[in-house]
Amino acid sequence: MLGIETSCDETAAAVVLRTGPQQGKILSNIVRAQLDDHAAYGGVVPEIAARAHVEVLDVLVAQALSETGLSWDELDGIAATAGPGLLGGVLVGLMTAKAIASARGLPFVAVNHLEAHALTPGLTDGLAPPYLLLLVSGGHTQLLIVHDLGAYERLGTTLDDALGEAFDKTAKLLGLPYPGGPEVEKCAADGDPSRFDLPRPLMGREAPDFSFAGLKTALRRQAEQHSPLSNQDVADLCASFQQAVGDVIVDRTATAINLFEKRVASMKDRNLVVAGGVAANQALRARLAQLCEKKNFVFHVPPASLCTDNGAMVAWAGAERLSRGLTDGFEFPARARWPLDPDAAPKIGAGVKA
Ligand code: KG4
Ligand code: ZN
Repeated sequence: MLGIETSCDETAAAVVLRTGPQQGKILSNIVRAQLDDHAAYGGVVPEIAARAHVEVLDVLVAQALSETGLSWDELDGIAATAGPGLLGGVLVGLMTAKAIASARGLPFVAVNHLEAHALTPGLTDGLAPPYLLLLVSGGHTQLLIVHDLGAYERLGTTLDDALGEAFDKTAKLLGLPYPGGPEVEKCAADGDPSRFDLPRPLMGREAPDFSFAGLKTALRRQAEQHSPLSNQDVADLCASFQQAVGDVIVDRTATAINLFEKRVASMKDRNLVVAGGVAANQALRARLAQLCEKKNFVFHVPPASLCTDNGAMVAWAGAERLSRGLTDGFEFPARARWPLDPDAAPKIGAGVKA
């Protein structure tokens, strides 16, 4: 299965061989990040992203196939992210996939980007549903029960910014480069996490939702009060921010674990998976690992290259769907919004990323 990913600022193509349930092999996995294209703007510019996908995608697809030594006729299907994401970029990947599938007479699978993240532990850890998933990236912040392929129960989501976005905005505010997550983590290592008193939004609430807008505003106020900032001030602000985020993540995930225990009957299934770019953060991982130990859960983090956006997760999700006979027609549209659980009641305040 060939998988194509173009929903944000990574152009990616990969070939994955599915050998059975929760069994797959990555034959090639090529990701081209567009960091330099967007760095000057301090964030992803949709129009620039779409044009960059157009420029490199056909070369990446050819490379992904040639690395496997397979011919087009040996593939069993073509999958592409059809949403949610930036429409211009999604269209580039989707049209490319449809064109290949049409020209080669191969099945086409439209993949939900969130489902691709959600199913990754099947490929990386051989993990079968049900499991609890914390998805934290630049575009998404959700807690989900993965009951089965196509059966997702969203327990909580962000009501405003995604967590990666909050890291990126914090970095920008403090004069650190984009993408901000790794920079904030690096600076935080030299900082005092208790120096600045920052809020822990929604902590203790019954539903495991998130909110980061207030935290960002509080941080801006502290930064303005202490301006001009010394290197130590920046480090202390980063450490205090990461500490507040950690407290929130642990509290919200603990709440979701309690819900998972109520809703999933079989108590042998006690697995928490964290995925998305923010899962690369070692401090947050350590705190989640501690939580899992306390709650008697097994903690899974896919390797960083498969936590962030990539084509292998799209190919794997496509292969899983194809194995159940789930393919799509060429009329399948690109979707800016595409919730994993369309039947759930809409959340008041939840942004387009929900
Ligand atoms: O999953 P991803 O590559 O793309 C999206 O789908 O958004 O996630 C990128 C996000 C960025 O916001 C980036 O700042 C954040 O993940 N990130 C981190 C770290 N590494 C990447 N956030 C916190 N700590 C990190 N070490
Ligand atoms: Zn993603």
